[in-house]
Amino acid sequence: MTSTNDNWVAATTLAELSEKGRKLVRLDGRQVAIFQTETGLYACNNRCPHEGFPLMEGTVSDGCVLTCNWHNWKFDLENGDTLVGGDKLRRYPVRINEDGIVELDMTEPPQNQQRDEILSNLDEALHKNDYSRLSRELARLDMIGVDPLVAVKKAFALRMDRFEFGTTHAMPGAADWLAYRQELTDPYERLACLSEVLGHIAWDSAYRPVYPFTTDVATWSEAEFSRAIEAEDENTAVALVRGALADGMTWDDLRPAFARCAMRHYAGFGHSVIYVSKVSPLIDILGGDVLESLILPLTRHLCTVTREDLIPEFRAFHVVRKDWDEHVDREPASRDDFLGLPVARVLSRVRKSAADPQACYHALMEAAVWQVRHFDESVMYRTNMPIGTNVNWLDVTHAMTTAQAVRELATELPELWGDGLLQIGCFIGRNAKYVHKDGDPADYAGRSGIDWEGDSETILGDLLHSKVLYHGCTDFIESVHRLKTISMVRSELALFPDAPWRKDMLVAVHRYVSSEFPRRRAVRVAYQSTTFVGRG
Ligand code: FES
Repeated sequence: MTSTNDNWVAATTLAELSEKGRKLVRLDGRQVAIFQTETGLYACNNRCPHEGFPLMEGTVSDGCVLTCNWHNWKFDLENGDTLVGGDKLRRYPVRINEDGIVELDMTEPPQNQQRDEILSNLDEALHKNDYSRLSRELARLDMIGVDPLVAVKKAFALRMDRFEFGTTHAMPGAADWLAYRQELTDPYERLACLSEVLGHIAWDSAYRPVYPFTTDVATWSEAEFSRAIEAEDENTAVALVRGALADGMTWDDLRPAFARCAMRHYAGFGHSVIYVSKVSPLIDILGGDVLESLILPLTRHLCTVTREDLIPEFRAFHVVRKDWDEHVDREPASRDDFLGLPVARVLSRVRKSAADPQACYHALMEAAVWQVRHFDESVMYRTNMPIGTNVNWLDVTHAMTTAQAVRELATELPELWGDGLLQIGCFIGRNAKYVHKDGDPADYAGRSGIDWEGDSETILGDLLHSKVLYHGCTDFIESVHRLKTISMVRSELALFPDAPWRKDMLVAVHRYVSSEFPRRRAVRVAYQSTTFVGRG
């Protein structure tokens, strides 16, 4: 670490230091440990950069290797490297004046230099999935007066080519965490939001090799881009996106193309639509210079995502779409017109009402909400079942979150309503098998003691605080889905405060985030593996 201004401060005498070969001093409000070894004099923060235990109690070996004995991190006092561990140790230049006084240069490095050093540490912390270190680096940025959002931008840029299949939930999750952070004032809670963003990026990309994007650049053409996505031709699609960015195109320019591609298939169980819809709010917070880091992985996602509309269960998506114009109509629709039907019949019913897309949307959303409210949790615990029926809370909540993404994209591009409504319909048809047919036998709404007619913002704010901010989940996928579902409910209820599904939606999201969510079902996997292998 270099310093630009001399700020030499008397710390001790050489005679005092020589007594024990080390001395702890307090200077400028800091504890500094000074060591005299066979290779020279060294000074560093006494608080270990890992968890703050005193380095004065450490062991020096090989002249300049300081070991913190609490967790065995090792620091090279000569060159500042962290030999074992992560965070960098703050060192201070040392000299002895002509009177035998040991002086330290306490000059703080310039803010830019400190910022760059912190940001240069990020990649290692992300790669090693070191959540605590990421949080510390964010806190350090905040401490030196640098907006820690620079770390979020940097993280997306550093890790964008580590996602084998492109965008993951870390990206849309970031949009919701950063929006929520803007509402908070408590510094620890604000930092927690950022830690969750970086932690999720790390979780999804740790220890992964680089999956390089082509560096080719081609002149942008939406038709070519659409063809490349359809053909799963990532190199061509990425080259076109690079060409668009080189020409100065913005997300506003490119969003329609991405939205059309995402909506064309019932793909990734709605994730493509959700991912596209979350780019705008992220750019609003992080700025346009993050665009490349977001849309290259998104392009990869669109090329690699599973297209469920090609499997028999959802093939009706294209059958219904084919002669859409002949049959689309504006018959009034209600929730009950969609509930209990298989996919093909739901989609046919959607077509009868899709000429009034807003009304159809509300009926479908109400059906999706009803299914979440009445989800039969016992299906998550069954063992002797075929792999195609592995269902959990996210299968039903995705109907709601996809519906919101459809509404947002189709409001801007009305041509997308048809495909979007059919995508919501795919969920409703599939999930019909996994709900309590006769309502919620456990009467969650009644048992909860909540005044569901009360202020929805209060109910949802409490949920966000207790079930998201203080989530206690091991798995990022669990906490981020809680966040995205509650965030979706907040924004839909803000737009449609008098919607007929208001109470059902509140009960549904409350029940979901308050329920257990079993993830790994060992015996079920064993059963499915055995029956599958046994079948030959
Ligand atoms: S506190 Fe020093 S290694 Fe953990």
